[in-house]
Parts: sequence; C-alpha cells; structure tokens
Amino acid sequence: MKRVFIIVLDSLGCGEEPDAALFGDKDCNTLKRISGSPKFVFNNLKKMGMGNIDGCCYLPGEDKPMASVARLRERSMGKDTTIGHWEIAGIVSESPLPTYPEGFPQDVLDEFTRLTGRGVLCNKPYSGTEVIKDYGEEHIKTGKLIVYTSADSVFQIAAHEDYVPIEQLYEYCHIAREMLKGKNGVGRVIARPFVGSYPNFTRTTRRHDYSLDPPGETLLDAVKASGQTVYAVGKIKDIFNGRGVSEYVLTSGNQDGMDKSLAAMDKDFEGLCFINLVDMDMLFGHRQDIDGYANSFAEFDARLPEFLAKMRDDDILFITADHGCDPGDYHTDHTREYVPLMVYGKNIKAVNLGTRLGFCDIATTAAEYLGVEFRGAGTSFLKDILRPTEDEVRAAKAAIAASDMAYVPYSKFHVGAALITASGKLYSGCNIENASYPVTNCAERTALFKAVSEGEKEFKLLAVYGHKEGCPADLCPPCGACRQALSEFCESSMPVIIVRDENDFVRTTIGELLPYSFSSADMEPKKVR
Ligand code: THU
Repeated sequence: MKRVFIIVLDSLGCGEEPDAALFGDKDCNTLKRISGSPKFVFNNLKKMGMGNIDGCCYLPGEDKPMASVARLRERSMGKDTTIGHWEIAGIVSESPLPTYPEGFPQDVLDEFTRLTGRGVLCNKPYSGTEVIKDYGEEHIKTGKLIVYTSADSVFQIAAHEDYVPIEQLYEYCHIAREMLKGKNGVGRVIARPFVGSYPNFTRTTRRHDYSLDPPGETLLDAVKASGQTVYAVGKIKDIFNGRGVSEYVLTSGNQDGMDKSLAAMDKDFEGLCFINLVDMDMLFGHRQDIDGYANSFAEFDARLPEFLAKMRDDDILFITADHGCDPGDYHTDHTREYVPLMVYGKNIKAVNLGTRLGFCDIATTAAEYLGVEFRGAGTSFLKDILRPTEDEVRAAKAAIAASDMAYVPYSKFHVGAALITASGKLYSGCNIENASYPVTNCAERTALFKAVSEGEKEFKLLAVYGHKEGCPADLCPPCGACRQALSEFCESSMPVIIVRDENDFVRTTIGELLPYSFSSADMEPKKVR
C-alpha cells in the first residue's frame, strides 16, 4: 500500500530566484537569514541532506545524506501560498493572483452593492483590528459593509454580528466569490465578523474563507479520482477549495499540525497526505521575527524523527515549501525564492537532483509513484531516485558478468547485456567481434537472439554494461542497430537500465531510446485519404 506524504514548511524559501528583482525581492534568502539566528537548530534536516541543496553552502553538508535533495524554482508568476501550493500540486499559473493596493475598482464595488443591496466602506488595504475600530461605528449607523484588502489577494468583508447576522455575512461572501472570477479572481474572499462596541470591537472566531477553485486538474483531483485517499492537514483543504480532498483536519499551529500528521500516519490508506505547517510564515515571516522563525524551524527539526519512525516501507515523504518570506528583508510580504526539496523513504536513494525548474515536478513524481494517471505540468524524477529493485540488481549483475566473456580483440571494449523475460528467466550476452569488422555482434543482440532462439518473445527488463579494457565502466547506451532490433520484440514502455555498477545505473525505456521505431505496421499499405 503506497502512501505519499508532502509536508509544506510554509514560506521556507532558500534563496532569491533569478527574477526576484521583478518582485522587489533582490537578495532575499529566508533559510540563510534564519540560519544566522542563535535559535537555529539544524540536526535532523542536516542528516536528510538539506545542507547539500544547491546554494545552501552556508549550512553544513552531509557526506551520506538520508534523502534525495533538490532546489526547486517556481515556474508560476507569483509568490503567494495559493499559487505555490497549486504548483506543488501540478498547476503552473501564468499570472499572479490579483492584489489591490489602491482598493477594488469602482465597477467591482458597484456590482457588489447591486447584488447585496448594501454600500461599501473603506475599500483599502487595512489591518483587520484597525479597520473595525475606524469604520465599525459608521458600519453600524449606515448598514454599509466594511470591505478591505491586504498585501495578499483577498477581498475581506467585516460586519458586526448584531447588525448583520452571520448567515447573511456568509451569503454576501458567497455573492462576492461568485462575482470575483477571471481578471478579478482574488485568492480568497474572507468573512470577518466582529462584536462589541466602540472602541472595543473584537473579531469573533466565525471567520470563514472562500477560496478560488484551482484552474485545472491537480494531483489531489487525480489521486482522488483513482479511488485512493487524499488526506489534507492544516490549510490545504482551503487552498484547494476542498477539491480533490477526501478527508481533512484543520490545525491550530505547527505543534498541532505535527500531532495531526503523526495521527494520519497511523491510518491505513493508499494515496496522498498533504500537510501545511503555517507558523513560520504567519507568525514569524510576516512579522519580521528572525529568532521566532528560527525557533519554529528548530521545533520542526526536533520532531522530524517522529515522522521518520512512523514511515512504512512503501511510504515516501516530500518536505518542501511554497515560497519565501525572508524575515530580515525590508518588507513584511512574501519573497520570490527557490524552495528546498527533500525526498525520503525506504524505496528512495540519496541523489542530489541539483536545481529543477518547477515545484510541479513533485506532483508528477508523486502521481507516478502512486500509479495514478495525471497530466500535470511537471516532469517526474522518480526514476532518478528509486532504489534498485531485485530485478534490476539481478540484470545489472548478469550484464556485468557477461561483459567478461566479450570477444573484443579489436576494440578492447567489453559489453554485456541481460534480458529478463516476462516469466522471469534471464538471458545474457556479450559482444563478439570479427576480423571483418561489420560482422561483429553487439551484446544486446546476442542476448536478444539467444532468448528468441529459445522461444522467448516477451521481455520486461534489459540491462547494458560496457567498459574499455583497464578503464572503469561508464554508461554504455545501446547502439542504433540494437535499439531497432529490441523494438521488434519489446514494448516501448519496457524499462532499460544502463549500468555503471550493480547499484548505480540510469533508467530509461525502449521508447525513449528509439521513438518512432520502424515496425511491421509501417509496411502496411497506407489508406489514401
Ligand atoms: N557494442 C555493443 O556490444 N553494444 C552496443 O550497443 C554498442 C557497441 C560493441 C560493438 C563493438 O564490439 C564494440 O562495442 C565497439 O563498438
């Protein structure tokens, strides 16, 4: 039963992206900033290999990291939570969600007034506590709604619970949500009810968020549609507007989020558990609190071993972030940064994937691991990080052994190949040269012809290994003639490994090696259209 866990450490960026200046974020680096704090503790994430990630040279590296690591660049044109999470789930957004530093355009307000029958007060970016103090009385007197925004893509409606019943406020938010689509598709419409009297108005807990539907199929949709479970922890359900979520649990902060994630790990399910830990961003990043941020990081670092201890054999854990929020730069807003990625599991080896373009590669990789069909924007890196299977080690060993038999007086280049049949039998072969050079037989074709001449026609894996006499092996991909010969008998999806040693090889497929191979179908008379 395969399970994928994705933990988003909200806003833990790891350095400015090349276009950071466009976002006003030159020289920002959240992780580097907090690593200078005395509160910064880096034990378990260090063991995972976080210090080995591209650009993280200010952190100590690890010789034998536990996880595969990468630095991911955001493809979407944004730096907010919603767009970041959507990209992790496979969607690239060409433009950022709209923000309204000057307030909402008049036509939006007019339409809102027409649909609700109520006028609007404020219409500016404002602090939530200040806005009710400054406009609360007028709101009570006139019945107009307090509409305000922030640096985020939000349309917030504040109303006094005694004068606008909560259900009615929710209805107004619903109206706004229906109205604010396309060009004015704000990330969230938020109900902000309050009570009390001037100057002691206080906000109640009946805040409610109305998110935007993701603009395409997400990993969550695909996993759920395949019949597997999607378990959302924290604000994930909200970010995806509930779409693709089978079960969810809200959290009251990181410690609670970690407790609830650990509880999720005890459940028997097949599919995805998507977790957001929000404290670093909400409590410390926006408030420019470097030590607080470092402390929150340290708390996660301290609890990471609890996650790892609960992981089952077929679980994979992705730890990443959705954007930056450098607490030491000149503004309180998010920052345009690369995000770190660590991938850990019994089935995962420790590979440094360098810098990759797109958070969305996480979704495609997770979908492939879960065996779920998904057409997200990313590219899977699963084949680069999966540990060798038993078949792969067996075929690699056989190919290496076969290369010892190579008859290569002319090239001194030893090649071995091994084919495993559908029924699990193995046929190996070596290259056999000839004084008449073109008569030479390659290792792959030797193995293939041996197998076919024994009646075998269905294969599931090929391994190829080659090295020059006296030199260490390097990758030896099959030649064109062998690719054509193999494509006669092997499915284009059949895996091929090009072997350096029994535990070190590159995975590819017959189809990748020879797309558009010539086949019997090409000799059929063509219908004239
Ligand atoms: N060779 C193979 O056995 N397989 C290939 O796919 C590439 C080439 C052998 C043929 C020859 O004996 C030597 O490598 C140098 O070309």
